[in-house]
Amino acid sequence: MPTREDVLEALKSVIDPELKKDVVELGMVRKITIGDERVDVMISLTTNGCPLRNHFVVAVRKAIRSVGAEAGEIEFDVLSPEEKTALQKKLGIQGSLPTGENVSLIKNVICVGSGKGGVGKSSLTVNLAAALTAEGKSVGVLDADVWGYSIPRMFGLGAERPPVSAERKILPLEAQGVKVMSIGFFVPEDSAVVWRGPMLHKALNQFLEDVEWGELDYLLIDLPPGTGDVSMTLAQLLPQAQFLLVTTPQDTAQKVARRAAEMATKVNLGLLGVVENMSGFSTPDGQRYAIFGDGGGQELADELDLPLFGKVPITMGLREQADAGVPIVSVNPDDAAAQAVRHVARAVIASTPELPPLLQELPPMLTVERNEPKGASLPMA
Ligand SMILES: Nc1ncnc2c1ncn2[C@@H]1O[C@H](COP(=O)(O)OP(=O)(O)OP(=O)(O)O)[C@@H](O)[C@H]1O
Ligand SMILES: [Mg+2]
Repeated sequence: MPTREDVLEALKSVIDPELKKDVVELGMVRKITIGDERVDVMISLTTNGCPLRNHFVVAVRKAIRSVGAEAGEIEFDVLSPEEKTALQKKLGIQGSLPTGENVSLIKNVICVGSGKGGVGKSSLTVNLAAALTAEGKSVGVLDADVWGYSIPRMFGLGAERPPVSAERKILPLEAQGVKVMSIGFFVPEDSAVVWRGPMLHKALNQFLEDVEWGELDYLLIDLPPGTGDVSMTLAQLLPQAQFLLVTTPQDTAQKVARRAAEMATKVNLGLLGVVENMSGFSTPDGQRYAIFGDGGGQELADELDLPLFGKVPITMGLREQADAGVPIVSVNPDDAAAQAVRHVARAVIASTPELPPLLQELPPMLTVERNEPKGASLPMA
């Protein structure tokens, strides 16, 4: 059996997601009981009803197993008022300690981007969301294209405004089992929204903090074309986000996608993989036309050393369904594009972790302090 010191050492891998420090350093390890066959641990939390309990249980169990013991009982108590005061002092926190309510319960954040416009980011986002849902995952879509939002239309939403809960949280609308949020729900149709840097930052922050996403396996973020402001802001707000690159087989699209990948890397967003869209068109009698050429997705993937998750052909169904407001994946799973997107969804699942980000260790450089956003609030009444 491991010694008490071994267990304590292993528990340094258990990070309090809000205080961003490990439970040993925070003095939250109340008790370690080493039995003949198993190790029991008691952790002291800042509040009784801490929503992060489950996450601590998983992380503590993992730590105990890492030193070759079986995890027994994981119990919790609450820090005494004196202990809390001491901890506040030690961490230099003014006011009360965080209570776990604002921590994101989103396991994977995936930004769908391309650099180039019109390659099918939004179409893939909605269909991928539907495909991940069909695989039993809980999924949200955040439309970060605040200038040219198209997600509401593609999900047939927008006639109603998202409701606001008693806790003053915005509730996402739902379509095909997917939770959806877009600036398009708040502004009159066709009105131009002029965003300046700080306002954009604030709006995106609100979409992440003030929207009641709940527990999600995947939050897909539909990025606007270009490589600027939005990805920078998201990288600041969501250091755990990963980038899914969309390109067409065409050389020019691929070049721009490469620049988008460079930008993502610069702002420390991880790169997840590549999807090639508009990969040829097949006639009903089976003749294939490579309208935008061939091989761009694979080339980009090879160059960036990323997996190519799939090649999505051009189909009438995909376009028609985007206009009709129900993703093709939901209505006609036999459509060639729908099949390809479902393949992409399975590849995405295979290459993303099961654990929520709070339990994944972030590289130290990414645990940056958040900047408080400045600017106007969303027009949400
Ligand atoms: N595989 C496909 N088959 C048929 N039509 C497609 C396919 N992918 C995209 N389209 C169509 O191409 C157009 C552009 O797609 P979409 O709006 O998804 O691209 P985007 O990259 O999000 O564009 P933007 O950069 O403007 O946000 C749309 O009309 C869409 O219906
Ligand atoms: Mg788009």
